Amino acid sequence: MNDIMVLKDAHRVALDDIDVSDPKLYQDDVYYPYFARLRREDPVHYCRQSLYGPYWSVTKYKDIMQVEINHQVYSSDLAISILDPPKGLERQSFIAMDPPKHDEQRLVVSPAVGPSNLANMEGLIRERTGRILDGLPRGETFDWVDRVSIELTTMMLATLFDYPWDDRRQLTYWSDVVIADVRSPESPVHSEEEKFAELTKMTQALGKLFQERAQLPPKFDLLSMLAHSNATRNLPFREFMGNLSLLIVGGNDTTRNSMTGGLMALNEHPQEYRKLRDDPSLIPGMVSEIIRWVTPVIHMRRTAKEDAELGGKQIRKGDKVVMWYVSGNRDPEAIPDPDNFIIDRPRPRQHMSFGYGIHRCVGNRLAELQLRILWEEVMQRYPVIEIMGEAKRTYSNFIHGIRSLPVRIPA
Ligand code: HEM
Repeated sequence: MNDIMVLKDAHRVALDDIDVSDPKLYQDDVYYPYFARLRREDPVHYCRQSLYGPYWSVTKYKDIMQVEINHQVYSSDLAISILDPPKGLERQSFIAMDPPKHDEQRLVVSPAVGPSNLANMEGLIRERTGRILDGLPRGETFDWVDRVSIELTTMMLATLFDYPWDDRRQLTYWSDVVIADVRSPESPVHSEEEKFAELTKMTQALGKLFQERAQLPPKFDLLSMLAHSNATRNLPFREFMGNLSLLIVGGNDTTRNSMTGGLMALNEHPQEYRKLRDDPSLIPGMVSEIIRWVTPVIHMRRTAKEDAELGGKQIRKGDKVVMWYVSGNRDPEAIPDPDNFIIDRPRPRQHMSFGYGIHRCVGNRLAELQLRILWEEVMQRYPVIEIMGEAKRTYSNFIHGIRSLPVRIPA
């Protein structure tokens, strides 16, 4: 499908038939015109039939905010993606819970990514980032995703979990397993049963470290924090598995894809790249613009606990309500000139990539810190990094993933 065909299709298809849940739309990066049309013609849109059953699409910034702040009606309990959890293989985690349990468990891990821990980690992140960048080849093509984005975020995960350093790519593998769409040929696992079996191995490996940490004085890593809190020290196996999965994916894929997507955005907008070279003090604002532009989490889903009205539509108890962040972040009523990447926007943190309300991303400041340091260190070394070919994207309607990106640093 080329872009012109997609645009025509998006205009030609009957409004009722628009289904934005097809993961191929995101793998091919062709979803934009569908959302532009929905925002204009039917901002709260009911899709009767899809691979995931019927669902509502919420596409405008202000309506997404309505859902985010009203967790009494729009529940996260059990499911936060359009795909329902596999029957019999469910795994609970605090992102998929409502208060009060959500609040208790979130509080346990928050200090790991809170201001004082971040201040303690900044030097370490900078030193590692510099080392990775110094080791990159010049004058030859290499994969930015593997050499930079995955390496840096995996190191961060290993630090957050205080995981054995040499085995850290296991964490990357498990993260890929958690988000895998088992129907995709590129998926590391090919059935929900296989996924569950791999995540059982993950839970056993991390569970062993958790038991050891429980015997030691509390420390500032996630396992130690979980092991020393009343709210989380005795979690049932599936809930422990779910929370580990959340913490691994939360801090991994999202930041990884922002690291890659930012480089792509700069190359696609040479005037912005030039602006950055002329004034590196723009980096903090640019980081927020990158996170908006990339929108690493494509959607979050809620389930209506009671009948409600949203954007003039009648939502029924039990309905699936999907908040498309990729659309809210391109809503011209909320974000001026949203289809342009502008590194010195006024109010750059206004985007909705981190969600909002009680589930707003707990790691948002850590993600911003990692990206800020990356770009500060890049600009000290490499004024230009060129893109040498097409990015390969992930088959997913949930995580906006980039699997590889060939780049070259001029010799
Ligand atoms: C650019 C990077 C990141 C993006 C775009 C992102 C995005 C999100 C989104 C959209 C949510 C759900 C918000 C909602 O439902 O309203 C979320 C929640 C969460 N994120 Fe992030 N995230 C990022 C980085 C991180 C990092 C570095 C961590 C670190 C550990 C993290 C951990 C979590 C956790 C634990 C939750 C669940 C919060 C809750 O339910 O209360 N994320 N994130």
